[in-house]
Amino acid sequence: MALLLYTTLLLILFRYPCNGADPLGDLCNKDTKTSDNTKISNNIDHLLAEIVSRSPSPGYIATSYGDGQDKVYGLAQCRGDVSTNDCSGCLQDAAKEIRQRCPDQVDARIWYDYCFLRYNDENFIGKLDTSYAIFYFNVENVTDPEDFNKKLGSLIDEIRSQAVMPKNKGLGKGESNLSPFLTVYALVQCTRDLAVIDCAQCLAIAVGNFPNFCNNKKGCRALYSNCYVRYELYPFFFPLDSSNSSSLIGNLVVKVYP
Ligand SMILES: *[C@@H]1O[C@H](CO)[C@@H](O)[C@H](O)[C@H]1NC(C)=O
Ligand SMILES: *[C@@H]1O[C@H](CO)[C@@H](O)[C@H](O)[C@H]1NC(C)=O
Repeated sequence: MALLLYTTLLLILFRYPCNGADPLGDLCNKDTKTSDNTKISNNIDHLLAEIVSRSPSPGYIATSYGDGQDKVYGLAQCRGDVSTNDCSGCLQDAAKEIRQRCPDQVDARIWYDYCFLRYNDENFIGKLDTSYAIFYFNVENVTDPEDFNKKLGSLIDEIRSQAVMPKNKGLGKGESNLSPFLTVYALVQCTRDLAVIDCAQCLAIAVGNFPNFCNNKKGCRALYSNCYVRYELYPFFFPLDSSNSSSLIGNLVVKVYP
């Protein structure tokens, strides 16, 4: 597969989607066409139907559909803390949206806050891919960067070690008090097809890019094809404190990179 090199820089100011309903980004690999192959296109439709019906309860699926040259592989995963209902809703949206956004591509990926969906005619299951990522960050800076970075660093280290314990299925989350009034919340997750060593590497690469995109920011998210890292100064993972939902609104900047 071609090395994906995207130099697009999107700067979009927008309001954070409170219900997780809008996609955070997509990747339609232009090198891979389906338009001349209706069989692959049909197989993708079958694959998506299977993903939508089978994955919400375990919150994860890696599967394939079809035979020979027209076989397609798919993976879907919800964030480990979201409910089966939210997972199901997210994957239904994702399956619809990905076909609209990438009608002619056989390598397609779509990111939501609650779920991630991907398919390809090459078997990518279990293979680490950090060639493409989306970073979102809050434009506001923290007031005490030194203390903040120290505490965020140890929190992220702690939840990264949770994520690579097999019983946690790739998920790590936690919080750390910055002061009696301020708490930082963080969550990391790998796709469940990854070996522990690849999960650790994906998270290391994502966190390694924090100085470039998240430096001293009040909140930041890294979305890779194999892992997710996010921190905020408000609770964003379930169980949520509903009294805090108003603080979910803020200016964020979208960046697509490498
Ligand atoms: C945050 O800090 C960066 C780097 O010092 C600066 O360029 C940016 O304007 C700051 N953002 C705000 C909202 O003050
Ligand atoms: C938000 O949650 C924190 C603890 O998680 C709490 O201390 C704070 O009072 C809450 N803010 C509001 C506006 O309710």
